[in-house]
Amino acid sequence: MQWELETIGVTKRFGPVTANEGVDLRVKKGEVHAVMGENGAGKSTLMSMLYGLLQPDDGEILIAGRQVHFTSALDAIGHGLGMVHQAFQLFEELTVWENIVMGAEPARRGFLDRRRAIASVAGLAERYDLKVDVTQRVRDLSVGIRQRVEILKALYRDAQILILDEPTAVLTPQERDGLFAVIRALRDDGRTILFVTHKLHEVMEITDSVTVLRQGRVTERMATKESTPEAIITAMTGRSVSLDVAKGPATPGEIVLQVAGLTVGQGPKPAVADVSITVRAGEIVGIAGVAGNGQSELIEAIAGLRPGSGRVTLKGRDIASLRVAERREAGLAYIPEDRAATGTAAGATAAETLLMGRQGDAALSRGGLLNLPAISERARRLIAQNDIRISSERAKVGTLSGGNLQKVVIARELDHEAPLLIAEQPTRGVDVGAIEAIHARIVAERDAGRAVLLVSAEMSEVLGLSDRILVMYEGRILAELPASEATEAQLGLLMAGRTGEAA
Ligand SMILES: Nc1ncnc2c1ncn2[C@@H]1O[C@H](COP(=O)(O)OP(=O)(O)O)[C@@H](O)[C@H]1O
Ligand SMILES: [Mg+2]
Repeated sequence: MQWELETIGVTKRFGPVTANEGVDLRVKKGEVHAVMGENGAGKSTLMSMLYGLLQPDDGEILIAGRQVHFTSALDAIGHGLGMVHQAFQLFEELTVWENIVMGAEPARRGFLDRRRAIASVAGLAERYDLKVDVTQRVRDLSVGIRQRVEILKALYRDAQILILDEPTAVLTPQERDGLFAVIRALRDDGRTILFVTHKLHEVMEITDSVTVLRQGRVTERMATKESTPEAIITAMTGRSVSLDVAKGPATPGEIVLQVAGLTVGQGPKPAVADVSITVRAGEIVGIAGVAGNGQSELIEAIAGLRPGSGRVTLKGRDIASLRVAERREAGLAYIPEDRAATGTAAGATAAETLLMGRQGDAALSRGGLLNLPAISERARRLIAQNDIRISSERAKVGTLSGGNLQKVVIARELDHEAPLLIAEQPTRGVDVGAIEAIHARIVAERDAGRAVLLVSAEMSEVLGLSDRILVMYEGRILAELPASEATEAQLGLLMAGRTGEAA
C-alpha cells in the first residue's frame, strides 16, 4: 500500500518535554483522517512538522512514498500541503482575494492582474461551495468565514493534503455543519484531509480513519467505522471514561430562581425578549440554542453583569436591582462562559483566583485584613478536593490548561454552597476526562438540592445533563420539553427555529 502521507518513528523534543515519540502516521489519498488526542498530546507539534514549521529530531516523513525534508512552510506548500492553523493568519485590512493571492499573485507584464485574481479566487470558492464574498475586507468577516478564507488560501496554492488544526473549536454548530460540507466536497475531489480534534462525535461524523495520540505516542490507529467511541476515549485518556452522564431522576423542590418578563436590549429585536424561567431546587434546567440567540445576555442579566428589565427573584427575594457581588451574597454561583476574561486573571495565583468574591468571608478576613494563612489553607484544600493539577496554590493560573482552569473556577463557585448555580458552557475547551468529572460534579450539586441553570451549545451536554430543556431562539424561549423525551433531531430543528416540524 502506498500512503499519501506517512511518518515513521517521528520524534520531537522541547527540552525536557517529549512532544512526539516514535509517531507512525499513515494517511490514504482522498480520506479524512482524524488526529485525536487530549490537550498537550502532541497533535499540533506533529502537524507543524508535516507543514515544515518544525523539524523532527528523529524519524522520517514521506509523501506519496518519497521521503521529504522540509525546512519551511514554503517547502511543504511546494509539495502540496496546506494548513489552517488554530489562530488564523490573515491581514485584517486586506480583502479576501488579496489575502488569498498574496505571494502567489497572477501577473501580467509584471503587474498584478486584479481581474484575473478575483475571478480565479471566486471560481475556486464556488467550486467547493465556500460561500465567501471575495471583495470584502477580512476585518468585516465572522470567524467562520475567515476560516473559509484560510482554506481557500491553501486551495489556491493547490494543496492536495489539507491540515485543519482543531477547526471546529471556534465555530458555532451551524458554521461547523458548513465546514463539514466543504470537507466532504474536498474529499470527493480526491484531496486528503488531516482533521485534528479532541471531539469524539466529530471524528465519528466526518472522518474515515483515526490516529489517536496520548502523551506524544500513537495509542490507536484504525478505520473510524471499525472503532467505537469507547475505544477511542480509552486510547485518548488511558482509562475508560463514561460518555453518558450518570444520574437518577430529579426531585424538584421549592422555586429557587424565578425570572419573569425579562428583556435585555431595545428595539424591535432585543437580545432577550420577555423571557420567563423557573428553576427549582434539585433540578437542572438546560438552555439549548445556537450561540448568539440571547443565551449569554440572559445569563449575564440574571448574574447582574448586564442591565435588563423584568423581575428576577432568588428564593423569593427580588435581586433585579442588586449588583453582581450582592447577588452572589444572596446565593448565586456563576461559572461564566469566558473564564479567561470574567472568571480569572492570568497574572493571579491559584489562591487569589479561588478567593475572588469571598474576600469578605469571616473565616478568610479579620478586621478588614485578609487572613493569609486561612486563604492558603482553603486554596490547598480546594486544589486537592477538585484534582486541580497545579504545582502549588502560589502558582499563577495563566499557565493552566483549559480543563484545569475550569476546575479552579468550578471549585471556587461551588465552595460557597449557593442555592442557585448558573453553569455557562461548563465544559467548553475541556478534555474528555475532565468533562466527565465536571458533569458528575454538576449532578452532585443538583442532588444536594441546588437549582442549576445550564447553558450549553453542545447538544449532547444539554440532553445528558438536563432534567428540563428550554430552547432559546432569537431572544425567546421557543419551546420547553422534558429531557427524557427530547431527541437530538427534534432539538436541532427547534434550535433552528423550526417549531412546526419538531412537533
Ligand atoms: N514550542 C514549544 N516549546 C516547548 N514546549 C512545547 C512547544 N510546543 C509544544 N510544546 C509542548 O509539547 C506538548 C505537546 O503540545 P501540542 O503539540 O501543542 O499538543 P496538542 O496540539 O495535542 O494540544 C505539550 O506538553 C506542550 O506544552
Ligand atoms: Mg494543538
